[in-house]
Amino acid sequence: MYIASTTAPVNIATLKYWGKRDKTLNLPTNSSISVTLSQEDLRTLTSAATSETFSEDQLWLNGKLESLASERTQMCLADLRQLRAELESQDDSLPKFSQWKLHIVSENNFPTAAGLASSAAGFSALVVAIAKLYKLPQSMSEISKIARKGSGSACRSLFGGYVAWEMGVEEDGSDSKAVEVAPLEHWDNMKAVILVVSADKKDTPSTSGMQTTVHTSDLFQWRIKEVVPTRFEEMKKSIVEKNFPVFADLTMKDSNSFHATCLDSFPPIFYLNDTSKKIIKLVHAINEFYKETIAAYTFDAGPNAVIYYESQNESKLFAFLYKLFGKVSGWESKYTTESLTAFTTEFETIKEQLNFAIDEELYKGVSRVILTQAGPGPQDTDLCLISEATGLPK
Ligand code: DP6
Repeated sequence: MYIASTTAPVNIATLKYWGKRDKTLNLPTNSSISVTLSQEDLRTLTSAATSETFSEDQLWLNGKLESLASERTQMCLADLRQLRAELESQDDSLPKFSQWKLHIVSENNFPTAAGLASSAAGFSALVVAIAKLYKLPQSMSEISKIARKGSGSACRSLFGGYVAWEMGVEEDGSDSKAVEVAPLEHWDNMKAVILVVSADKKDTPSTSGMQTTVHTSDLFQWRIKEVVPTRFEEMKKSIVEKNFPVFADLTMKDSNSFHATCLDSFPPIFYLNDTSKKIIKLVHAINEFYKETIAAYTFDAGPNAVIYYESQNESKLFAFLYKLFGKVSGWESKYTTESLTAFTTEFETIKEQLNFAIDEELYKGVSRVILTQAGPGPQDTDLCLISEATGLPK
């Protein structure tokens, strides 16, 4: 039996992928950009094993046996096996992994209940673990094309730091891949607060939501033709120049633009709820208060807010965020009591100058705070989820 393991990160887009020009190959209607988040807080760990004795492909996700039947997963496995078969055809001494079955075991270090898109980290880890097992020589960008077929946004989780998914123009998707805009070290003081907003019902899944938008929204045509192509270049430049105010404005505008196309879909799709909208107003009020853009919100296909900021502005931002969301769990694991008291003191010193009203009830719409930062791409690991004796989950 042969086994390989990897970890893979979550990424949160600052320029959103929304819309497919090819549903089967997951080819997008526009390029997108994301920041990869730290795996200390959010990651998938996946082990993949292969053996001549395995009788079927099997997948265990967070302790439960899951189906591998989905067309997306099947496409990923077929692509990986084909690359392995090419290697085997060049070197007779290689074991014929491409013909053997796989056992895949995968675990997230965050509760699925948090409602955070885990498909990006999940497909990224699955594809990287098998690519490692098969000792594939392809670059991360090449491998990202396989992860893309699992879930579009997964291709961006193959890199750390700042990542672009270039939409490409080819019909077969051969140029639709993730590339690094800048490594983590280039802009390593980027941090993120995730406000997990309680949702009362299940949102429209992104896959079907984006199909509705593509087919019914007029605004969407303007977005993909005029708005995103310019913004893509501007955002890459802001990352290269580490210009937070520009990066932040583009990020907020793009989140709003994406949610506007959702509202313009027919029937309309609503991902933001009242709490999300109050958080949007709050971030604008904070930036206005400091007369400087120190924070940027962005929202995916759900009500959760991700707020990006630079570490040197943490006490300024947390004066407000700790005041408003200090009752919600997530702070104690990251900050000492002294640091938390300092955030409260900071608020006390500025509260006389406040030019907007604080909504003392806002925390009630938030179930959890995740305090994290930009992070690296998939990592090798000594952890292994598969027993060498049985080939089954440990
Ligand atoms: C709003 O990657 O989940 O998070 O390709 O159908 O699996 P599929 O969709 P998915 O969509 C993510 C949409 C988004 C924006 C983004 O991450 O860029």
